[in-house]
Amino acid sequence: MPGVFVVLEGGEGAGKSTQCRRLADSLRFDDHDVVLTREPGGTRLGEEVREVLLGAGSQGMAARTEALLFAAARAEHAHAVIRPALARGAIVVCDRYIDSSVAYQGAGRGLGEQRIAEISGWATDDLVADLTVLLDLPVDVGLARANDGNRMEREPSGFHEQVRRSLLARAAARPTGYLVLAAQRPADQVAAQIRAAVNALLTHDGRPPVDLAPPDPA
Ligand code: TYD
Repeated sequence: MPGVFVVLEGGEGAGKSTQCRRLADSLRFDDHDVVLTREPGGTRLGEEVREVLLGAGSQGMAARTEALLFAAARAEHAHAVIRPALARGAIVVCDRYIDSSVAYQGAGRGLGEQRIAEISGWATDDLVADLTVLLDLPVDVGLARANDGNRMEREPSGFHEQVRRSLLARAAARPTGYLVLAAQRPADQVAAQIRAAVNALLTHDGRPPVDLAPPDPA
């Protein structure tokens, strides 16, 4: 697809949302067509699922239910927002994606990273990011910074250690599509490194050139 799909991942308090906004702003300043979105969410249905997942009513939800709801919100998001944006050539900047499910539900909840990756692969019809930026941070620092008090945040630090390990392992297994940054560094430096990595993608330095489809004979 002609667009570029950029995902920011990280544990609690890593500053992803701020960096997503900064990246989107800087790309728009340069006249790029940008879609800034997030998971769970990004569509009306997805935001409603987010409310179910992270709101007060989620207490006691079975881990498998949780995993399937994240995947369902993602299926809708990929279908209704991300694919259409990429098809028209936009840059999609997404706050969390499949790696969050692999880390939180697969590793943190112990449902199995491979299994959870397969469920999200099916849900999105194998739509993968061109670049995943992992903002890495020690768990205690992140939890001290995080402040929305959702049900994931309230999990013990051992859960969040599993999440961190899983995110780092996934990045290490696929070095080409990943950029791992220390999230404790000054936000300006982090923002500049993310933008440089996206620039490399836009000039096709960071991946094979886009394979343009031949013109439609009709
Ligand atoms: P959010 O308020 O967006 O947190 P953050 O600012 O840390 O991104 O809440 C999203 C929460 O949902 C976060 O704790 C991570 C969790 N999550 C999963 O457990 N699985 C997933 O697939 C996704 C996308 C998020």
